[in-house]
Amino acid sequence: MNYEQIKPLEKRIPAARQEAKRHYGVHPYFTRRPYNVVRDHILHYTQERDIVLDPFGGSGVTAIEAYLANRIGVQNDINPLANFIAEGIVGLSEASDDEIFYAYGKIETACKKILQDIHQKASFEEIPPDIILPPNVRLPRTADVENYHELFTTKQLVSLSILKNEIDRLNGASQKLLLLAWSGALARLNKTFISTHGRAASRGGSSIFSIYRYKIARQPVELDAWSVFESRFIALLAARKEIVSLIELRKRTAGWHGGFYCKSRDVIELQSEYSEKVDYIFTDPPYGGHISYLDLSTLWNVWLGLDPVPEAPEKELIVGGEMGLTEERYKSRLYQSITASFSMLKKDRWLSVVFQHWNIEYFKAILDAARDSGGELRSAISQIGDPIWSMHKKKGKSSVLAGEVILTFYKSGKMCVREPQHPTVSLECLVVELLAETNGNILYGEDLFNRIVVEAWKRGVLDELKITKEDFTHLLENLGWKYDPQKHLWIKGMLIEQQSSISLK
Ligand SMILES: C[S@@+](CC[C@H](N)C(=O)[O-])C[C@H]1O[C@@H](n2cnc3c(N)ncnc32)[C@H](O)[C@@H]1O
Repeated sequence: MNYEQIKPLEKRIPAARQEAKRHYGVHPYFTRRPYNVVRDHILHYTQERDIVLDPFGGSGVTAIEAYLANRIGVQNDINPLANFIAEGIVGLSEASDDEIFYAYGKIETACKKILQDIHQKASFEEIPPDIILPPNVRLPRTADVENYHELFTTKQLVSLSILKNEIDRLNGASQKLLLLAWSGALARLNKTFISTHGRAASRGGSSIFSIYRYKIARQPVELDAWSVFESRFIALLAARKEIVSLIELRKRTAGWHGGFYCKSRDVIELQSEYSEKVDYIFTDPPYGGHISYLDLSTLWNVWLGLDPVPEAPEKELIVGGEMGLTEERYKSRLYQSITASFSMLKKDRWLSVVFQHWNIEYFKAILDAARDSGGELRSAISQIGDPIWSMHKKKGKSSVLAGEVILTFYKSGKMCVREPQHPTVSLECLVVELLAETNGNILYGEDLFNRIVVEAWKRGVLDELKITKEDFTHLLENLGWKYDPQKHLWIKGMLIEQQSSISLK
């Protein structure tokens, strides 16, 4: 394969989140990437047996898709929960049907009736003395409650404990599968779970994934623990069937040589192990604040006994969190992480980074690190038109960035010279120029924003671009565009004559 000759992908790939049972509905995780977008990138930039790395792997979409496409997928994440999910999904095909149903039968015999009886009880206040509970650790300051046990009702604590203790007595791949089902059930059997209004009580999600904190539901629902566990088990069986048939298909056609490795290191440290070994990287680093992955994964890590390495909290690439990590530190570690990623990539290979943020300095850290590592920006695709579900509930949607940009670089290894600043380009002109290039009468705000960032960076004026959400919205309005909140896009209307009030700070 001549990697240099590859023409970069230029068009948005519509997201098909729900089609792959191996990712959708198996176990919740934060900002999971649509599998088909990731898979199409892997297929485009690599060939079979290539090593594909995601240094910020999350729930493992990149490494799992690489593995199933006959590549060697390398998953890395500093958060043990992320690796537990990714390894769990890959491991689904490892046990036979007989083993799985035998193990499930044992759990059913030992727990189903007890759990159903607990669910039926009108009140259940006392925890029986033989129940083994997880450590009652302190929760992050943003949590509504102080300690771990307060995240659960007594019924939930006892039911989860009974189930987990039985699963712990099993072994092998079927035990791991059932533990993944238990962990998926844990996401619903706690007081942060909020039922979706007007739907069955079991439909909904945890505040951990919607508002990124431990918010306790005003009226916590107590779902039937056995049914929840059983539904997670059924979802895993569907995921397993899909994975097994994909592997079988490969075996019959190209031959099966997919591989999967899992690492739990800080990205910057991973480079010592993978220096110039990787054929393609597809990754989305944390986007600044909002999500403290480790803090929010305490719910799982504690009960599953998954301990992050002691230095993980201070190495996590976030702003804030319990450690109160600063923005300055985030920017410099983001730069170092992208530099480290390029150092793991072979020369003459490709790297894609997914990102979105209003803070242009974060983009600058990524773009500068790539350039300083001999990476040439070859494409910037906005994944627009796929607003995330929580968008529908947000106020002031016009300033919500609901689509990311996928920046793809080719590592030529040539050290590029920094663009001299273009003194004649004013930012206001740049925006007007880009709007003039827009075909048709509609545009997505995120697409324009991404194009502004990339164009300003290329012209060496990114440092000066200080545009706030409000400025951006006013700017478009003043240029005669109107926001359609239903479709989350901008429509060109009458051009307002007075454009002088455009404010670009
Ligand atoms: C945006 S998420 C990735 C989600 C993933 N693309 C998926 O589809 O599930 C970013 C991930 O980076 C991890 N992370 C944060 N800081 C890290 C670090 N210093 N080294 C390695 N991983 C880190 C977080 O735990 C989180 O899982």
